Amino acid sequence: MFHLVICRNYDEVSSEAFKVMKGVLDQKKDAVLGLATGSSPVGLYKKMIADHKASGRSYRDVSTWNLDEYVGLGKEDEQSYYTFMHENLFDAIDIKEENTHIENGLAADPDAEAKRYEAELKKVTVDLQVLGIGSDGHIAFNEPGTPFDAETHVTDLTEQTISDNARFFDGDKSKVPTRALTQGLATVMRARKIVLIATGANKADAVYDMLKGPLTTDCPASILQKHNDVTVIVDEAAGARLR
Ligand code: GLP
Repeated sequence: MFHLVICRNYDEVSSEAFKVMKGVLDQKKDAVLGLATGSSPVGLYKKMIADHKASGRSYRDVSTWNLDEYVGLGKEDEQSYYTFMHENLFDAIDIKEENTHIENGLAADPDAEAKRYEAELKKVTVDLQVLGIGSDGHIAFNEPGTPFDAETHVTDLTEQTISDNARFFDGDKSKVPTRALTQGLATVMRARKIVLIATGANKADAVYDMLKGPLTTDCPASILQKHNDVTVIVDEAAGARLR
């Protein structure tokens, strides 16, 4: 079941997402958060940091599980999702490093790493999963064609995703890793509550297909039609086809 919020601008989108986050954190000081990378959630993370500074809300008992990581990039790498999370959230709040989890992009055996991560994730229930969406309808790195019952796995990135993400790699497609470790769609669907953030005209088709299209692996995000608690927060550009 979707709750749709259409906002005027990115700041409003981030505030609406923070309201959902705050609702969860207010109720549970040891909340389990599922976190995403990409530009979409950065505004939400800024609001979490501002709230932490202003209200003193503590993340000491909170734990986090990230969606995905590039195969071949590690903690030291500027473009790894590990580094992204530290720069955009973790370093500015009082979360404990040992309570933050992300796949190890440098694991010698990525398939074994995917299995290990999924097994760990099965021991917890994510209270709130934050999601962005790719312009091809992917969530985490579940590209079109990924089966709905997929758990954490290693995937090849599509040409579309590689071009979309080249902006983080000096605009150079050849620098973008071609494989990633990602939670599967079935993994994501286990979260109690989901908040999905999408902004910009290049997301309009994916947002439309997710909400109004058929349930199909061509649009991996359409699986969310089967979840009973998803808040979708978009700006007018990303929501343009919904009117
Ligand atoms: C990447 C991530 C996704 C994210 C998507 C959209 O491919 N693996 O989790 O949702 O990008 O990113 P952005 O928010 O920057 O548009």
